[in-house]
Order: sequence, then C-alpha cells, then structure tokens
Amino acid sequence: MHALVTTPGAAHTTRVDDVPDARVTAGTVLLRTLEIGVCGTDREISEGLFGVAPDGSDRLVLGHEFLGRVEQDGHGFSRGDLVSATVRRSCGHCPACLAGAPDACQTGDYLERGITRLDGFASELVAEDPGNLIAVPRSLGHLGVLAEPASICARGIRHVHAVGGRQPWAPQRALVLGAGAIGMLSTILLRLEDYEVWTAARGEAGSEKAQLVESVGARYVSTADASPLALAQDDGGFDLVVEATGNAQVMLDTLALLRRNGVACLLGIDGHEQEVCLDGRVIGVDAILQNRALLGSVNANRVDWLAAVEQLDRAQARWPGELAACVGLRVPLDRFEEAFAFSGVKATLTLEPSPPERPRHPLRRRAPRTG
Ligand code: BGC
Repeated sequence: MHALVTTPGAAHTTRVDDVPDARVTAGTVLLRTLEIGVCGTDREISEGLFGVAPDGSDRLVLGHEFLGRVEQDGHGFSRGDLVSATVRRSCGHCPACLAGAPDACQTGDYLERGITRLDGFASELVAEDPGNLIAVPRSLGHLGVLAEPASICARGIRHVHAVGGRQPWAPQRALVLGAGAIGMLSTILLRLEDYEVWTAARGEAGSEKAQLVESVGARYVSTADASPLALAQDDGGFDLVVEATGNAQVMLDTLALLRRNGVACLLGIDGHEQEVCLDGRVIGVDAILQNRALLGSVNANRVDWLAAVEQLDRAQARWPGELAACVGLRVPLDRFEEAFAFSGVKATLTLEPSPPERPRHPLRRRAPRTG
C-alpha cells in the first residue's frame, strides 16, 4: 500500500512509497485513512531535524493528525464510523504512563505515531488499538482531521485553568500569539468559553487569517502595527496567554504580558541555539508580586481529545464556515510538497480517491405547453 515515508535525520527524503499492508491482530481495529493534517513537526521531521524511525528500520511513516474510517464492526465500533487516534504511547514503566497519562510521561521513553519510533497514519490502511481511538461525530465530518491539533490546545487551556485555579481566579481576557492552526484553534476554543480574545500575528490587518479571527468574535492585532508588549500595556495585561508562534523570545516575553494571577502557556517549539532576554524586573518582581505563572504543554491526554472533539463540534455548529476555512488546502498524498509549503492555517493530505462523479440525470424538460 502507499504511504508517506521519510528517513529521519536525512533532509529531503520524504516520499510516497510502497509499504507492507497494515496487519490487523485480534486486539486492533482496521482503519482506512481519509485525511492527514500536516504541521510544523512534520516539516521538521522532513527537514531531518526531528523524528526517530521504528527500531530496526531507517524509515518512518509520517502522519500524526489522523482522520480515518472503521473498516469492520468490532471493539465497540461499526464499519463506517469516523475516528481519530491519540499520538503518544506509554513508556510502560513510569507512574504517569501507567496511570493512562503518557502526555505527562516521566521518562521520555514514550513512543509517538508518525514522530518517535512508531509509524504514523499516512498510509492507505492502518491498524490501531481501539483504546487509542477517538470517535468523531458525523456532524464534524472531515473536520475531524482537526482533532489532534485541537487536543493540544485543549490540554494547554486545561492546564492553564488548573494552575490559575490554584487560587481564586476569574479569567476574562486572553491573548493568543500566532494564527497558525494552534493559534487559530486556541482562539476558537477560548471564544467558545466566552473569553474576550485578542489574537496577535505577523500578517496584516484585513488578511485572510485576520478575517477568520474576527469572524469568531476575537480581535486581530497585526504585530506590524502593535507589539504584544504594547498591547498588554495599553489594555492592562491578560489573564491567559497562549503562545503558538514557535519563537523563544516571544515565549519569554509572555511573562510580561500577564496581569495579576495570569498564566501563560507555551505550545510552540523553537529549537534554535540563541539567547533570549527579558527585563529582569518582570521575573524578579512582577512574576512574584503578581502570582504570575508560565508553563509549557505538550501532547494531549485522552480527556483533552474528548473535549477537543466535543468543542470542535460545537464550533462547527456555531461558526460552520469559519471552522471549515481552517483547512485551506487539501491535496492527495503525492502532492505532499504543496501541503508542506502551505502558509495558511492548515493543509491536509487526502488518501481516499474522491468519489467518482455521479452520472448526472439529464434535466427533465417540461413538455412544451400546447394550446
Ligand atoms: C504533536 C504532539 C507531540 C509533539 C512532540 C506535536 O507536533 O502534535 O502530539 O507530542 O509534537 O513530538
């Protein structure tokens, strides 16, 4: 069967290749892959900067943002059900993994489908343990491909609430930095919770992303017009900041954007070797006297997946056009380079051939009236 594969550590080796068919065992469910989302992690793996092939292999099947269809009844699923699947698998020997929370793995020995030591989902068929599947409601349809990035946002926001909620806290004002998939989905999830949301990104005011942000009731700020620091000074700071630009300086600056008791959550990654700086009084005084907190968050727990799917479904009901517009490019697997180069919110790869066009019934002409 066809799959999108790469040789981790070797740049420009990503290709569509033939791989052995997925093997279904008694404990797995056979799934037909419908769509795979592409994110910064896939690009990094493809550039040879990240990712580990399964033991004994030098080739990794990519794809961790998965939407598939169940092929056979069983394990509580029916043929035709739409599903997504969690990404991380237990290290098998730490208390967090053993408690069902590999997102908080204490050893770092976890595996991740399509990223670390486990093949991903970008192949025609995949087999998966039913315990790792997440049901996608029919009403969400192919937008279920957003479940994985939405689960990352849901976990970040859940952790912010856990930290903020350690003391009396009534957050209202949120700032999201970045308007890629993680920034846009965080904006949407926070708007669903009725936060007053500002989303700041590099694109100009009036750009497509700016319009999308505004159409879900958030305010778009182009960082060309106002820096996040200026924004925080003008507006009195934020209760909650989600950082999704993948820039370490911006990440550190988030501590200066918070108001009293505020919590900032870092979801982007920046692996560049560099020094970043901060006014010493922000960490030395404000962070302490104002009970501010800064945390990083990776991956997602099953509870975050369930919340993400439920929230996406609600977002779809409330802003159908806007959620659909988040997936700005859909191309078949062999056009993966276009998806990797896409600069909109989200590009996906489709694996199922589009259904053949239905033969059109010739328009029935009314018989000309006579008389
Ligand atoms: C994925 C996470 C994963 C992380 C680190 C992200 O792109 O969404 O599921 O844990 O990369 O590998």
